[in-house]
Amino acid sequence: MEFLKPIVFVLILSSSTIPILSFSHFSPIDHYLIDCGSTLKSTVDHRIFLSDSSPSNSPFLSSPRSFSLTNQHPFEGLPPIYSSARVFEVASKYEFQIRDKGTHTVRLHFQAFTSSNLDLIRAQFHVLVNGYVILSNFSGVSAVNPRIKEFLIWVGTETLEITFIPVKRSSFAFVNAIEVISAPKDLVADSAKHLSYERSEDVDGLSKEGREVLYRVNVGGPKVTPFNDSFWRTWVPDDEHFESSEGSKKVYSSGRIKYQEGGASREVCPDNVYNSARVIKSTNSSIPNTNMTWTFPAIDGYNYIIRLHFCDIASISIGFLFFNIYVNGYMAYENFDLSTATNWELSSPFYVDFMVSGDQEGVLRISIGSSNQSVPYAIDGLLNGIEIMKLNNSLGSFDGNLSAEMVLMRCRGNTVNLVPYVVILCLIVTVSLMLRRKVIRRDDSFSWSKVPVVDSWKVKSNMGIVNS
Ligand SMILES: *[C@@H]1O[C@H](CO)[C@@H](O)[C@H](O)[C@H]1NC(C)=O
Ligand SMILES: *[C@@H]1O[C@H](CO)[C@@H](O)[C@H](O)[C@H]1NC(C)=O
Ligand SMILES: *[C@@H]1O[C@H](CO)[C@@H](O)[C@H](O)[C@H]1NC(C)=O
Ligand SMILES: *[C@@H]1O[C@H](CO)[C@@H](O)[C@H](O)[C@H]1NC(C)=O
Ligand SMILES: *[C@@H]1O[C@H](CO)[C@@H](O)[C@H](O)[C@H]1NC(C)=O
Ligand SMILES: *[C@@H]1O[C@H](CO)[C@@H](O)[C@H](O)[C@H]1NC(C)=O
Ligand SMILES: *[C@@H]1O[C@H](CO)[C@@H](O)[C@H](O)[C@H]1NC(C)=O
Repeated sequence: MEFLKPIVFVLILSSSTIPILSFSHFSPIDHYLIDCGSTLKSTVDHRIFLSDSSPSNSPFLSSPRSFSLTNQHPFEGLPPIYSSARVFEVASKYEFQIRDKGTHTVRLHFQAFTSSNLDLIRAQFHVLVNGYVILSNFSGVSAVNPRIKEFLIWVGTETLEITFIPVKRSSFAFVNAIEVISAPKDLVADSAKHLSYERSEDVDGLSKEGREVLYRVNVGGPKVTPFNDSFWRTWVPDDEHFESSEGSKKVYSSGRIKYQEGGASREVCPDNVYNSARVIKSTNSSIPNTNMTWTFPAIDGYNYIIRLHFCDIASISIGFLFFNIYVNGYMAYENFDLSTATNWELSSPFYVDFMVSGDQEGVLRISIGSSNQSVPYAIDGLLNGIEIMKLNNSLGSFDGNLSAEMVLMRCRGNTVNLVPYVVILCLIVTVSLMLRRKVIRRDDSFSWSKVPVVDSWKVKSNMGIVNS
C-alpha cells in the first residue's frame, strides 16, 4: 500500500486546488472581449481583448464615420483597454453573432481622455442594445476612473446589436471596450418576492426582463476583482453603504464554501464573497435588539431586484441562526431560518431575490435584525453579499422616458435637419429651371412655333363645338 501514497497525495493536492481552478471552469459559448479603437489585442488579468479593427467576422462594426483615438499619455495603473477608444460621429453599431440564446452580460467600458485636440469628456450620446435604451444623454464620464456599465439582456435572436448615437449633430459617441458574454444559466432567477404596500407575493417571468447591474457588494470583505470572480465580475466593499450599527461585527472564514444543488452555484456568487460577512452576535443571555442596515440610491419609476447572499460562516453549530430581513421597511422575511434553507449545512451558500419599486424617498434600504426566535449566546443576524439590479421601464429603457424607437426617430430627426437645405436647393433648382424654360419658350415662340400645343387643342375643340 505504500506505493499508493504519492497518488493519494497528488489527489489531495489537486482537490485542494479545485476552488481556484474552478474560477476558470465556466466557459461561455458566446464570449466577445473587444478593445475598441485599438490596432492590437490587449490582455487584462489573463483575458484577451481583441481589436475591433481586426478583420474577423464578429463583431461586425458598421459605422459610416468613426475613427480610433489613442491616449498618448496613458493613465498609470489602468489596464491597456482604457488607452484607446473608438469615436463615432454618426449613429453606428456593433453586431455580435449569438450562438447561445439566453441571458447575456453586456459590459461597456468608458474612460475619457484628450488626444488630437479631442476631449472625450465632451461626448454626449445614447446607447441601444436590441431595442432597449441602456444609456441616454450619457456624458458624465469621469477622467479619473473608468466607468463600467453592465446589463443582463435576454437574447432570443441570432445577433446582439449595440448602437451608439450622438445626441446632436455636433456631438459624438465613444467606447473603450465591450464585453458580450453568455451568462451562466442559473444566474438570473425567474421569480422574486415582490414587496409592496398592498401585499407581497411571488412574481414570475423575470428571467427575460432586461436588468442593469447597479451594485455588487461584498459585505464585510475586500474588493473582489474580475480576476478572482468565477464570472469576471467586480464586487466592492460595503463600507460606503453600511450605516454603522452598534453590536455588529465583520467575520471572515478561510474554510471551504460548500456549494450545494438548490443553493447558489459558484458562478452565481464566488467563494470570495461568501467567505466574509457582517453579523449580529449575542455574547450573553440577552439578544441585541438592533438592525444592520445598508442603503442604496434608487429612482422613482423603476423596479429593482435586490439579491441577498447568505452563507453561515460564523455559527459554531447549525440550527441556532434566525433573523428578520427588512427591505424598504417591509418585513421581507420573518424568522428567516438559514439552516433549513441550506439543508442543515454550515458554510453553504444561499440567496433570495426581492423586487421593490423605487419611490419618492429615492433610497433602497436593507436591514437584518434579530427576530423572535433568535437564540442567546449565538449569531442573531448575518449577511454576506448584496446585488442591486434595475429592471427596464415599460418603454424598454433603463435611463429616461424615451423608447428605442423614439431615440432613433430623434436621431433621424438630426439628419432631417438637412431638409430645409434640400428644400431650398430644390426650390432654387426648380426656379432656375422654370426661368430657363421661360426664356427658351420665349425664344421658341419667336422662332419656329407660332401655335402652342394648348392653343391648337383649344382651336380644335372650338372647331369641334362649332362642328356639332
Ligand atoms: C436628453 O435631454 C434632453 C434635454 O436635455 C431631453 O429633451 C431628451 O428627452 C433627453 N433624451 C433622452 C433619450 O432622455
Ligand atoms: C485575488 O484574491 C487573493 C486573495 O483571495 C488576493 O491575494 C489577490 O490579490 C487577488 N487578486 C486580484 C487580481 O485581485
Ligand atoms: C450583554 O452584552 C452587551 C454587549 O455585548 C451589553 O450591552 C449588555 O448589557 C449585556 N447584557 C447583560 C444582561 O449582561
Ligand atoms: C429594524 O428595521 C425595521 C424596518 O425598518 C424596523 O421596523 C425595526 O423597528 C428596526 N429594529 C430596530 C431594533 O431598530
Ligand atoms: C413576535 O412574536 C409575537 C408573539 O409571539 C408576535 O405577535 C409578533 O408578531 C412576532 N414578530 C415580531 C416582529 O415581533
Ligand atoms: C422591459 O422592456 C421590454 C422590451 O421593451 C418590455 O417588453 C417589458 O414589458 C419591459 N418591462 C417592464 C417591467 O415594463
Ligand atoms: C418619467 O415619467 C415618470 C412618470 O410619467 C415621471 O415620474 C418621471 O419623472 C419621468 N422621468 C424623467 C427622467 O423624465
